[in-house]
Amino acid sequence: MKIRIAAATAGAVLALPASGALAAELNLICSADVVICEKLVAEFEASHSDISVNMVRMSSGEAYAKVRAEARNPQTDLWWGGTGDPHLQAAADGLTAEYQSPLLPDLQDWAVEQAETSGYRTVGVYSGALGWGYNTEIFEKKGLKEPTCWADLLDPSLKGEIQIADPNSSGTAYTALATLVQLMGEEEAFTYLKSLNANVSQYTKSGSAPVKAAARGEAGLGIVFMHDAVSQSVEGFPIKTVAPCEGTGYEVGSMSLIEGAQNPDEAKVFYDWVLTPEVQNLMPAAGSFQLPSNKAAVASEHAPDLSQIKLIDYDFAEYGSSERRQALLSRWDSDVGGRAAAE
Ligand code: G6P
Repeated sequence: MKIRIAAATAGAVLALPASGALAAELNLICSADVVICEKLVAEFEASHSDISVNMVRMSSGEAYAKVRAEARNPQTDLWWGGTGDPHLQAAADGLTAEYQSPLLPDLQDWAVEQAETSGYRTVGVYSGALGWGYNTEIFEKKGLKEPTCWADLLDPSLKGEIQIADPNSSGTAYTALATLVQLMGEEEAFTYLKSLNANVSQYTKSGSAPVKAAARGEAGLGIVFMHDAVSQSVEGFPIKTVAPCEGTGYEVGSMSLIEGAQNPDEAKVFYDWVLTPEVQNLMPAAGSFQLPSNKAAVASEHAPDLSQIKLIDYDFAEYGSSERRQALLSRWDSDVGGRAAAE
Protein backbone atom coordinates (compact mmCIF):
# COMPACT_ATOMS: atom_id res chain seq x y z
CA MET A 1 0.00 0.00 0.00
CA LYS A 2 1.54 3.32 -1.02
CA ILE A 3 0.74 6.79 0.21
CA ARG A 4 0.79 9.19 -2.70
CA ILE A 5 1.43 12.87 -2.37
CA ALA A 6 1.03 14.86 -5.54
CA ALA A 7 3.88 17.34 -5.88
CA ALA A 8 3.32 20.89 -7.05
CA THR A 9 5.04 20.35 -10.37
CA ALA A 10 2.90 18.94 -13.17
CA GLY A 11 3.05 15.19 -13.47
CA ALA A 12 5.49 14.66 -10.59
CA VAL A 13 4.43 12.18 -7.95
CA LEU A 14 6.13 11.32 -4.70
CA ALA A 15 5.44 7.83 -3.43
CA LEU A 16 6.22 6.58 0.07
CA PRO A 17 5.66 3.08 1.36
CA ALA A 18 3.19 2.98 4.25
CA SER A 19 5.63 0.92 6.36
CA GLY A 20 8.17 3.77 6.32
CA ALA A 21 10.80 1.56 4.65
CA LEU A 22 12.18 3.07 1.49
CA ALA A 23 10.82 1.41 -1.66
CA ALA A 24 12.97 1.19 -4.73
CA GLU A 25 12.49 4.24 -6.91
CA LEU A 26 12.66 5.11 -10.54
CA ASN A 27 12.96 8.69 -11.75
CA LEU A 28 11.44 8.87 -15.20
CA ILE A 29 11.20 11.63 -17.77
CA CYS A 30 8.38 10.93 -20.20
CA SER A 31 8.38 12.93 -23.44
CA ALA A 32 5.28 11.56 -25.14
CA ASP A 33 1.68 12.58 -24.47
CA VAL A 34 0.84 12.88 -20.78
CA VAL A 35 -2.05 10.38 -21.05
CA ILE A 36 0.21 7.52 -22.19
CA CYS A 37 2.91 8.65 -19.73
CA GLU A 38 0.48 8.30 -16.82
CA LYS A 39 -0.93 5.04 -18.16
CA LEU A 40 2.55 3.46 -18.39
CA VAL A 41 3.43 4.53 -14.85
CA ALA A 42 0.15 3.15 -13.45
CA GLU A 43 0.56 -0.18 -15.28
CA PHE A 44 4.21 -0.49 -14.29
CA GLU A 45 3.52 0.16 -10.62
CA ALA A 46 0.61 -2.28 -10.68
CA SER A 47 2.87 -5.05 -11.98
CA HIS A 48 6.02 -4.04 -10.02
CA SER A 49 4.80 -3.25 -6.52
CA ASP A 50 8.38 -2.91 -5.24
CA ILE A 51 9.23 0.06 -7.48
CA SER A 52 7.74 3.55 -7.18
CA VAL A 53 7.96 5.79 -10.21
CA ASN A 54 8.50 9.55 -10.02
CA MET A 55 7.49 10.72 -13.47
CA VAL A 56 7.73 14.14 -15.02
CA ARG A 57 6.39 14.95 -18.51
CA MET A 58 8.71 17.16 -20.54
CA SER A 59 9.02 17.94 -24.23
CA SER A 60 12.02 16.33 -25.94
CA GLY A 61 14.24 19.41 -26.15
CA GLU A 62 13.47 20.37 -22.56
CA ALA A 63 14.24 16.82 -21.42
CA TYR A 64 17.59 16.93 -23.20
CA ALA A 65 18.39 20.25 -21.48
CA LYS A 66 17.47 18.80 -18.07
CA VAL A 67 19.61 15.69 -18.56
CA ARG A 68 22.47 17.86 -19.69
CA ALA A 69 22.12 20.31 -16.78
CA GLU A 70 22.18 17.38 -14.33
CA ALA A 71 25.13 15.61 -15.92
CA ARG A 72 27.32 15.79 -12.80
CA ASN A 73 24.56 14.72 -10.45
CA PRO A 74 21.83 12.91 -12.43
CA GLN A 75 18.34 13.15 -10.95
CA THR A 76 16.85 11.12 -13.79
CA ASP A 77 17.26 7.38 -14.34
CA LEU A 78 15.37 6.80 -17.55
CA TRP A 79 14.04 8.94 -20.40
CA TRP A 80 11.18 7.34 -22.34
CA GLY A 81 9.65 8.74 -25.51
CA GLY A 82 10.05 11.94 -27.39
CA THR A 83 11.70 12.33 -30.77
CA GLY A 84 14.97 10.53 -31.45
CA ASP A 85 17.20 13.47 -32.37
CA PRO A 86 17.73 14.83 -28.83
CA HIS A 87 18.22 11.24 -27.59
CA LEU A 88 20.96 10.84 -30.20
CA GLN A 89 22.50 14.14 -29.18
CA ALA A 90 22.47 13.02 -25.52
CA ALA A 91 24.15 9.77 -26.59
CA ALA A 92 26.86 11.62 -28.50
CA ASP A 93 27.41 13.90 -25.50
CA GLY A 94 27.90 10.82 -23.26
CA LEU A 95 24.86 11.78 -21.16
CA THR A 96 23.21 8.40 -21.64
CA ALA A 97 24.42 4.88 -20.89
CA GLU A 98 25.07 1.94 -23.17
CA TYR A 99 22.57 -0.91 -22.77
CA GLN A 100 21.47 -3.76 -25.00
CA SER A 101 18.09 -5.05 -23.93
CA PRO A 102 17.39 -8.77 -24.39
CA LEU A 103 14.36 -7.56 -26.40
CA LEU A 104 16.49 -5.88 -29.07
CA PRO A 105 16.14 -8.82 -31.53
CA ASP A 106 12.33 -8.47 -31.32
CA LEU A 107 12.35 -4.88 -32.56
CA GLN A 108 11.74 -3.37 -36.00
CA ASP A 109 14.84 -2.53 -38.07
CA TRP A 110 14.31 1.24 -37.62
CA ALA A 111 14.34 0.82 -33.85
CA VAL A 112 17.51 -1.27 -33.92
CA GLU A 113 19.17 1.17 -36.34
CA GLN A 114 18.54 3.94 -33.83
CA ALA A 115 20.36 1.84 -31.22
CA GLU A 116 23.25 1.14 -33.59
CA THR A 117 23.59 4.81 -34.58
CA SER A 118 23.98 5.74 -30.90
CA GLY A 119 26.38 2.95 -29.91
CA TYR A 120 23.44 1.35 -28.02
CA ARG A 121 22.83 4.42 -25.86
CA THR A 122 19.28 4.79 -27.14
CA VAL A 123 16.67 2.61 -28.83
CA GLY A 124 13.52 3.16 -30.90
CA VAL A 125 10.21 2.75 -29.09
CA TYR A 126 7.76 4.04 -31.71
CA SER A 127 7.62 5.84 -35.02
CA GLY A 128 5.35 8.35 -36.74
CA ALA A 129 5.36 10.80 -39.65
CA LEU A 130 5.06 14.57 -39.58
CA GLY A 131 2.17 16.42 -41.17
CA TRP A 132 -0.64 18.59 -39.91
CA GLY A 133 -4.22 18.58 -38.77
CA TYR A 134 -6.71 21.31 -39.63
CA ASN A 135 -10.12 22.17 -38.26
CA THR A 136 -12.56 21.43 -41.09
CA GLU A 137 -15.32 23.57 -39.54
CA ILE A 138 -13.09 26.65 -39.31
CA PHE A 139 -11.79 26.12 -42.84
CA GLU A 140 -15.28 25.73 -44.21
CA LYS A 141 -16.63 28.74 -42.34
CA LYS A 142 -13.80 30.97 -43.51
CA GLY A 143 -13.81 29.58 -47.05
CA LEU A 144 -10.20 28.40 -46.79
CA LYS A 145 -8.74 25.88 -49.23
CA GLU A 146 -7.43 22.57 -47.88
CA PRO A 147 -3.62 22.84 -47.62
CA THR A 148 -2.20 19.59 -48.95
CA CYS A 149 1.42 20.69 -49.53
CA TRP A 150 4.04 22.52 -47.46
CA ALA A 151 3.85 25.28 -50.09
CA ASP A 152 0.12 25.78 -49.38
CA LEU A 153 0.87 26.76 -45.77
CA LEU A 154 2.41 30.03 -47.03
CA ASP A 155 -0.88 31.21 -48.56
CA PRO A 156 -1.71 34.67 -47.14
CA SER A 157 -5.28 33.51 -46.47
CA LEU A 158 -3.85 31.43 -43.59
CA LYS A 159 -2.49 34.46 -41.72
CA GLY A 160 -2.79 33.83 -37.99
CA GLU A 161 -4.33 30.37 -38.51
CA ILE A 162 -1.26 28.17 -37.94
CA GLN A 163 0.43 26.94 -34.79
CA ILE A 164 3.65 24.95 -34.50
CA ALA A 165 5.88 24.36 -31.51
CA ASP A 166 9.23 25.98 -30.76
CA PRO A 167 12.00 23.60 -31.92
CA ASN A 168 14.14 24.42 -28.88
CA SER A 169 11.65 22.81 -26.51
CA SER A 170 9.82 20.49 -28.87
CA GLY A 171 11.16 17.49 -30.72
CA THR A 172 8.17 17.64 -33.07
CA ALA A 173 9.09 21.15 -34.18
CA TYR A 174 12.76 20.21 -34.49
CA THR A 175 11.68 17.30 -36.72
CA ALA A 176 9.78 19.86 -38.85
CA LEU A 177 12.84 22.11 -39.05
CA ALA A 178 15.17 19.23 -39.98
CA THR A 179 12.60 17.87 -42.44
CA LEU A 180 12.32 21.17 -44.30
CA VAL A 181 16.12 21.48 -44.43
CA GLN A 182 16.34 17.99 -45.92
CA LEU A 183 13.51 18.64 -48.38
CA MET A 184 14.60 22.09 -49.58
CA GLY A 185 18.19 22.73 -48.52
CA GLU A 186 19.04 24.97 -45.57
CA GLU A 187 18.77 28.38 -47.25
CA GLU A 188 15.42 27.69 -48.84
CA ALA A 189 14.11 26.08 -45.65
CA PHE A 190 14.85 29.22 -43.62
CA THR A 191 13.32 31.41 -46.32
CA TYR A 192 10.25 29.16 -46.09
CA LEU A 193 10.14 29.33 -42.27
CA LYS A 194 10.43 33.13 -42.32
CA SER A 195 7.44 33.30 -44.72
CA LEU A 196 5.53 30.75 -42.65
CA ASN A 197 6.10 32.96 -39.61
CA ALA A 198 3.60 35.45 -41.09
CA ASN A 199 0.88 32.82 -40.76
CA VAL A 200 1.90 31.46 -37.34
CA SER A 201 -0.10 32.78 -34.38
CA GLN A 202 1.88 30.94 -31.71
CA TYR A 203 4.99 28.82 -31.17
CA THR A 204 3.97 26.43 -28.40
CA LYS A 205 6.22 24.60 -25.95
CA SER A 206 4.89 21.10 -26.54
CA GLY A 207 4.76 19.50 -29.97
CA SER A 208 1.17 18.28 -29.97
CA ALA A 209 -0.33 21.48 -28.46
CA PRO A 210 -0.97 23.09 -31.90
CA VAL A 211 -3.43 20.44 -33.05
CA LYS A 212 -5.10 20.36 -29.64
CA ALA A 213 -5.64 24.11 -30.07
CA ALA A 214 -7.03 23.49 -33.58
CA ALA A 215 -9.39 20.84 -32.16
CA ARG A 216 -10.75 23.39 -29.66
CA GLY A 217 -11.13 26.00 -32.40
CA GLU A 218 -8.32 28.21 -31.05
CA ALA A 219 -6.30 27.78 -34.24
CA GLY A 220 -7.11 26.69 -37.78
CA LEU A 221 -4.22 24.27 -38.25
CA GLY A 222 -1.45 22.64 -36.23
CA ILE A 223 1.80 21.28 -37.71
CA VAL A 224 2.29 18.08 -35.69
CA PHE A 225 2.93 14.38 -36.03
CA MET A 226 0.07 12.91 -38.00
CA HIS A 227 -0.79 10.47 -35.20
CA ASP A 228 -1.36 13.47 -32.88
CA ALA A 229 -3.87 14.89 -35.37
CA VAL A 230 -5.53 11.48 -35.67
CA SER A 231 -5.99 11.23 -31.91
CA GLN A 232 -8.03 14.45 -32.01
CA SER A 233 -10.34 13.16 -34.75
CA VAL A 234 -10.69 9.81 -32.93
CA GLU A 235 -11.84 11.84 -29.90
CA GLY A 236 -14.52 13.37 -32.10
CA PHE A 237 -13.02 16.77 -32.96
CA PRO A 238 -13.39 18.06 -36.55
CA ILE A 239 -9.73 17.56 -37.43
CA LYS A 240 -8.54 16.32 -40.81
CA THR A 241 -5.02 14.87 -41.02
CA VAL A 242 -2.76 15.72 -43.96
CA ALA A 243 0.46 14.13 -45.26
CA PRO A 244 2.31 16.90 -47.16
CA CYS A 245 2.47 16.30 -50.95
CA GLU A 246 6.17 17.16 -51.30
CA GLY A 247 7.10 14.48 -48.79
CA THR A 248 7.73 14.58 -45.08
CA GLY A 249 9.99 13.50 -42.24
CA TYR A 250 9.31 11.16 -39.37
CA GLU A 251 10.46 10.42 -35.86
CA VAL A 252 11.93 7.37 -34.23
CA GLY A 253 10.63 8.02 -30.72
CA SER A 254 13.34 6.78 -28.41
CA MET A 255 14.33 5.70 -24.90
CA SER A 256 17.63 6.17 -23.08
CA LEU A 257 19.14 5.17 -19.75
CA ILE A 258 20.92 8.06 -18.06
CA GLU A 259 24.67 7.76 -17.50
CA GLY A 260 25.44 7.72 -13.77
CA ALA A 261 21.76 7.12 -12.85
CA GLN A 262 21.05 6.52 -9.18
CA ASN A 263 18.67 3.65 -9.91
CA PRO A 264 20.08 1.83 -12.94
CA ASP A 265 18.60 -1.58 -12.04
CA GLU A 266 15.05 -0.24 -11.70
CA ALA A 267 15.55 1.70 -14.93
CA LYS A 268 16.50 -1.51 -16.77
CA VAL A 269 13.42 -3.29 -15.40
CA PHE A 270 11.21 -0.53 -16.87
CA TYR A 271 13.27 -0.45 -20.09
CA ASP A 272 12.77 -4.15 -20.82
CA TRP A 273 9.12 -4.07 -19.70
CA VAL A 274 8.16 -1.12 -21.91
CA LEU A 275 9.64 -2.81 -25.02
CA THR A 276 7.32 -5.83 -24.72
CA PRO A 277 4.41 -6.16 -27.17
CA GLU A 278 1.90 -6.33 -24.30
CA VAL A 279 2.95 -2.91 -23.03
CA GLN A 280 3.26 -1.33 -26.49
CA ASN A 281 -0.27 -2.58 -27.20
CA LEU A 282 -1.53 -0.31 -24.39
CA MET A 283 -0.77 2.80 -26.44
CA PRO A 284 -3.83 3.06 -28.73
CA ALA A 285 -6.27 2.92 -25.79
CA ALA A 286 -4.42 5.95 -24.39
CA GLY A 287 -4.91 7.81 -27.69
CA SER A 288 -1.31 7.25 -28.87
CA PHE A 289 -1.31 6.00 -32.45
CA GLN A 290 2.39 5.75 -33.25
CA LEU A 291 3.75 2.58 -34.86
CA PRO A 292 5.11 0.33 -32.11
CA SER A 293 8.74 -0.84 -32.27
CA ASN A 294 8.20 -4.43 -31.15
CA LYS A 295 7.45 -6.55 -34.21
CA ALA A 296 4.86 -8.55 -32.26
CA ALA A 297 2.93 -5.44 -31.15
CA VAL A 298 -0.13 -4.57 -33.23
CA ALA A 299 -0.37 -1.15 -34.88
CA SER A 300 -3.74 0.51 -34.30
CA GLU A 301 -6.17 0.72 -37.22
CA HIS A 302 -5.93 4.50 -36.65
CA ALA A 303 -2.12 4.63 -37.01
CA PRO A 304 -1.20 6.54 -40.19
CA ASP A 305 0.12 4.00 -42.69
CA LEU A 306 3.73 5.04 -43.36
CA SER A 307 3.84 3.01 -46.57
CA GLN A 308 1.17 5.35 -48.04
CA ILE A 309 3.08 8.52 -47.10
CA LYS A 310 5.92 10.04 -49.14
CA LEU A 311 8.71 9.86 -46.58
CA ILE A 312 12.11 11.49 -46.91
CA ASP A 313 15.19 9.45 -46.09
CA TYR A 314 15.59 11.29 -42.77
CA ASP A 315 19.26 11.36 -41.78
CA PHE A 316 19.03 10.71 -38.04
CA ALA A 317 22.80 10.49 -37.55
CA GLU A 318 23.30 13.95 -39.04
CA TYR A 319 20.25 15.78 -37.62
CA GLY A 320 20.64 14.13 -34.23
CA SER A 321 24.29 15.18 -34.03
CA SER A 322 25.13 17.77 -31.44
CA GLU A 323 26.73 20.12 -33.94
CA ARG A 324 23.92 20.11 -36.49
CA ARG A 325 21.09 20.32 -33.95
CA GLN A 326 22.72 23.20 -32.09
CA ALA A 327 23.51 25.09 -35.30
CA LEU A 328 19.98 24.72 -36.67
CA LEU A 329 18.40 25.80 -33.37
CA SER A 330 20.65 28.88 -33.15
CA ARG A 331 19.77 29.84 -36.69
CA TRP A 332 16.07 29.31 -35.97
CA ASP A 333 16.38 31.59 -32.92
CA SER A 334 17.99 34.38 -34.90
CA ASP A 335 16.10 34.04 -38.21
CA VAL A 336 12.64 32.97 -37.05
CA GLY A 337 12.13 32.90 -33.26
CA GLY A 338 13.66 36.32 -32.68
CA ARG A 339 11.59 37.84 -35.46
CA ALA A 340 8.46 36.21 -34.06
CA ALA A 341 9.13 37.73 -30.64
CA ALA A 342 9.79 41.13 -32.16
CA GLU A 343 6.66 41.19 -34.28
C1 G6P B 1 3.77 13.78 -29.03
C2 G6P B 1 3.82 12.62 -29.99
C3 G6P B 1 5.06 11.81 -29.84
C4 G6P B 1 6.29 12.69 -29.88
C5 G6P B 1 6.17 13.80 -28.86
C6 G6P B 1 7.30 14.80 -28.91
O1 G6P B 1 3.55 13.33 -27.73
O2 G6P B 1 2.68 11.80 -29.85
O3 G6P B 1 5.10 10.84 -30.84
O4 G6P B 1 7.45 11.92 -29.68
O5 G6P B 1 4.97 14.51 -29.11
O6 G6P B 1 6.97 15.81 -28.01
P1 G6P B 1 7.56 17.27 -28.13
O7 G6P B 1 6.74 18.05 -27.15
O8 G6P B 1 9.00 17.17 -27.75
O9 G6P B 1 7.39 17.74 -29.53
